[in-house]
Amino acid sequence: MFSSNDTKTIRRGGTYLELESIKKIYAGYSHVYDALFKRFFYPRIKHAITYMDIKPGDMILDVGAGTGLSFMVFPRHCRVVGIDLSQEMLKKAKEKIRENRLDHIKLLSMDAMHTGFKDNSFDKVFISHVVSVVPDPYRLMEEVSRVCKKGGQVVIVNHFKSRNKVIEAVEKIINPVCKKIGWRSDMCLNEFIDRSGLHVKKKYMLKKLDFWHILFATNEK
Ligand SMILES: C[S@@+](CC[C@H](N)C(=O)[O-])C[C@H]1O[C@@H](n2cnc3c(N)ncnc32)[C@H](O)[C@@H]1O
Repeated sequence: MFSSNDTKTIRRGGTYLELESIKKIYAGYSHVYDALFKRFFYPRIKHAITYMDIKPGDMILDVGAGTGLSFMVFPRHCRVVGIDLSQEMLKKAKEKIRENRLDHIKLLSMDAMHTGFKDNSFDKVFISHVVSVVPDPYRLMEEVSRVCKKGGQVVIVNHFKSRNKVIEAVEKIINPVCKKIGWRSDMCLNEFIDRSGLHVKKKYMLKKLDFWHILFATNEK
């Protein structure tokens, strides 16, 4: 049923080595991440969280929270658990929590593909710039589906490969380099949606020509 590049090149579950290499890459980024990426990532993070319709008391999982670019946007009336594989990224995230007294946000060091959370622990899940970073995005989405309540909201901000054939060809060529620097550039949006089993209610880009999509979905279990 799924015979495209995605299926051939994404190994189920990923490996220990892949996780160790991701940890190393993001340890390297941690000191410069905000300076390099905030200007690109923050506008979409802000937009996506603002439109999540977060209710008082909602339990929210921020998957691969990184340095916590999202943290200032979550309203104080919800509770957020941010998880990440990289201790160094989490250290930066902790600084933001302390400096801004964000007592509604807690952090845990975890592999998002195999978390320790009980089933149905979260009302909403936010995943920004992570599905193309983990070794197995479909294992990630199974885990997200398990820990999110049935009918809960899953919001994703991510780069997917372009539908423009020229750009798609370039993305395919640069994918090996992208993987070395921390993400893949060749994920197909439609295949991701099909295989993740999410019921996508809205999907769009903030600008007509943009690198990143924003998806608002429901966890149908
Ligand atoms: C590109 S950053 C995105 C950070 C943040 N969400 C943002 O939008 O700025 C990717 C993050 O995913 C984390 N990550 C990668 N694989 C992971 C995994 N298996 N479990 C948890 N976090 C992971 C990395 O450590 C890194 O902090």
